[in-house]
Amino acid sequence: MTVIVTGGAGFIGSNFIFYMLKRYPDYRIICLDKLTYAGNFSTLASVMDNPRFRFVRADICDRKAVYNLFEEEHPDIVVNFAAESHVDRSIENPCLFLKTNIIGTATIMDACREYGIIRYHQVSTDEVYGDLPLDRPDLLFTEETPIRTSSPYSSSKAAADLLVLAYHRTYGLPVTISRCSNNYGPYHFPEKLIPLMIINALSDKPLPVYGEGINVRDWLYVEDHCKAIDLIIHKGRAGEVYNIGGRNEMRNIDVVKMICDALGKPYTLIRFVTDRKGHDLRYAIDATKIHNELGWFPETKFADGIKKTVQWYLDNREWWETIISGEYQNYYEKMYGNI
Ligand code: NAD
Ligand code: TYD
Repeated sequence: MTVIVTGGAGFIGSNFIFYMLKRYPDYRIICLDKLTYAGNFSTLASVMDNPRFRFVRADICDRKAVYNLFEEEHPDIVVNFAAESHVDRSIENPCLFLKTNIIGTATIMDACREYGIIRYHQVSTDEVYGDLPLDRPDLLFTEETPIRTSSPYSSSKAAADLLVLAYHRTYGLPVTISRCSNNYGPYHFPEKLIPLMIINALSDKPLPVYGEGINVRDWLYVEDHCKAIDLIIHKGRAGEVYNIGGRNEMRNIDVVKMICDALGKPYTLIRFVTDRKGHDLRYAIDATKIHNELGWFPETKFADGIKKTVQWYLDNREWWETIISGEYQNYYEKMYGNI
């Protein structure tokens, strides 16, 4: 089998590449990635010499480059992780999100139609369902929950999902979609909550918590997510959507306090800052469908996953120090310069 993984130099895509190379010793994995600010070539250093791995730098919106790669590799499976993925950046620059997340998805699927594939898998997000109220813990997102987005990011992901389902119905493309909750783990780019807090706490810098810190996210350890995608691409039914969640809802403030505890840092580092515009209150996933159909469930408890994650950031300082010394500094200054 030959698998093209787009966005494989990013957080989840790179973890998926490591997982697949290990799990399937006879698979070839091709990473197609533009290496935007969020993509790190160094993340893939450990697999660059693997004869079953190939890295290609290209934009998923570049039809010629995408078709050339399909012509050379004739992939059996394509897993699309490539995206602009940060809500705060989407609030600043929506159009870039529309281009990459929608046009890029269509371009990759057109190549799949042209060359033929066994499975196209779209990595989507629970954010397409909008948010849930804080005072209704009984409500969860199912695959039947209507699409009702809040941010330019989630709107672009929702548009891509609709397009994926349209390609299934119109052209018979064998697609699947997964909608997962917030991931955490190694190689997470430090603009996102958990790595940002770990890295700031390590340098005794303020920990910026939006609003009152009461927004709730359902945290999923990245390796559990990779296992779910593996099951879906091999055993999931074409044309179907699968929710993937961590069964682990936490308020942001409690996550930040756990990180402080893990690092022995005082809560006085915490600063409540201006809330994000349109900030979704709560995400919570009902993952019954993937559990019943494919036997998947999240194996990693948050207490263990967060310890492993904190340890990874302690052991891999060079990886994140290189990131935060670059373009990231301008972003950080713009977002958090006044705290
Ligand atoms: P990330 O931002 O860490 O990585 C994105 C990768 O895509 C980077 O390597 C980047 O270089 C690449 N990329 C961006 N634009 C590209 C383009 N035009 N052409 C080719 N490559 C391009 O993202 P992530 O957190 O790993 O998320 C991966 C996928 O999972 C995304 O589709 C995201 O929407 C989805 N998702 C993420 C989470 C999460 O918690 N991180 C939750 C739900 C869904
Ligand atoms: P984030 O990691 O950006 O993921 P998402 O917005 O996709 O859920 O944010 C997770 C939560 O943490 C979200 O409610 C926003 C909040 N947050 C902060 O409070 N401070 C921060 O500096 C960041 C980046 C996020």
